[in-house]
Amino acid sequence: MLNLYTQYLQGKLSDDEWKAAAEQAKQMQKQLHKRCRDGGGNLGWLDYPVRINAEEIAAIEKAAEKIKNNSQVLLVVGVGGSYLGASAAVEFLHGSMYNHPSTADKQRPEIYFVGNNVSSAYLNDILKIVGERDFSVNIISKSGTTTEPAIAFRILRSIMEERYGKKGAAERIYCTTDANSGILREIAKKEGYATFAVPSDIGGRYSVLSPVGLLPIAVSGADIRSVITGAHDAYETYKNEDECNDCCYYAAARNIMYRKGRSVELLVTHEPSMTKFAEWFKQLFGESEGKEEKGLFPVSITYPTDLHSIGQYIQQGRKIAFETVLWVNRKKEDICIPHITDDNDDGLAYLAGESLNVISKKAMAGALAAHTMGDVPNVLIELDRQDEYDLGWMFYFFEKSCAISAYMLGVNPFDQPGVDAYKKNMFALLNKPGYEKDAEKVADFFKEFDEP
Ligand code: PA5
Repeated sequence: MLNLYTQYLQGKLSDDEWKAAAEQAKQMQKQLHKRCRDGGGNLGWLDYPVRINAEEIAAIEKAAEKIKNNSQVLLVVGVGGSYLGASAAVEFLHGSMYNHPSTADKQRPEIYFVGNNVSSAYLNDILKIVGERDFSVNIISKSGTTTEPAIAFRILRSIMEERYGKKGAAERIYCTTDANSGILREIAKKEGYATFAVPSDIGGRYSVLSPVGLLPIAVSGADIRSVITGAHDAYETYKNEDECNDCCYYAAARNIMYRKGRSVELLVTHEPSMTKFAEWFKQLFGESEGKEEKGLFPVSITYPTDLHSIGQYIQQGRKIAFETVLWVNRKKEDICIPHITDDNDDGLAYLAGESLNVISKKAMAGALAAHTMGDVPNVLIELDRQDEYDLGWMFYFFEKSCAISAYMLGVNPFDQPGVDAYKKNMFALLNKPGYEKDAEKVADFFKEFDEP
């Protein structure tokens, strides 16, 4: 369950501004539901939590069991929307030490994410960690052609075939790709790899609640049925198009901040186990909204860590940002500040007996008040618990809010034309066939500036 609090924006906007923005958000929600705006063919995620079928869930759970039984490590290969959600979920549900041997439960494999960079050092480090242990690979690519994961997959396939033989490797490779088409689906068919479908009408950054996120999440030992139930309940809560729900209010708040000249949204988390969630958030909003020279620039920070670094800038630097604070109410763990023999030699006697969670909440409230009073507006989002159900709810909440928010800006939330520019240049520089024209353009550019 998630609650949104916009009251800290009071004083930054009039009632009329708030009502007008909320009304516009509601209209955008209507258009989203009618699927009549740009990107209307990419809205499969909107009702996917109620459409996902029982066989699909069972197949994911079965594959996860097999991986748990025959592998000590799972390598998830993917980039952007094809890995950020799963990476966020594993950390959110199990903590940032999930892979550490002392915390690892023998029943759940370590999980590493590869193919999101082209660093040989990174891949080599992970291969060393895998060592002689048994591993499986889940390659996730909707298009099947994204270079970074395709390269990593090729390297891993060859290692697996050498170690397990072609047939043995095929028992350990799981391909999550477009339901009907693409190179990866063809390879999977040819080699007999198990496949999971990314529905054609769900794009990468909106796909975490599909097999894209669910298979790695299930391998981590989390209950994917609860994740789906959370998303399902969020869908039910936000489905009335005539109602201005929290997705609309959050989109309205962001839009008002943007129109009032804020160009940065700081997603503030207070748990180190949410830093990857913040990465997912940044991609969702950055790739959905940042086009046509519009959009809030999404940044993530963890408090109180970052209060002692960029906190100074936030409080007194240029007023370019507002904050969206993510808070979990009922935490799983707590530690009590102990009484010690000479109880005040460190000046902390006033805290003896106090809970770390209470102190953390005071730190959150203190920063929220200081920043709001210092002209850095705050929006607060509270989760009830850091568990599967709330995670599913939260993924859905942000996806829907993002789509409404992008429509309010007048951009298509579901494309990413800007990402192609670098891809073309890289292909041209690598002499990929078909990129000869781009190669000429890049060569011209580097006549003026030396190629690095
Ligand atoms: O959100 C998106 O659409 C992108 O970030 C993609 O997920 C990313 O580029 C990876 O694409 P693919 O799954 O086709 O390899």
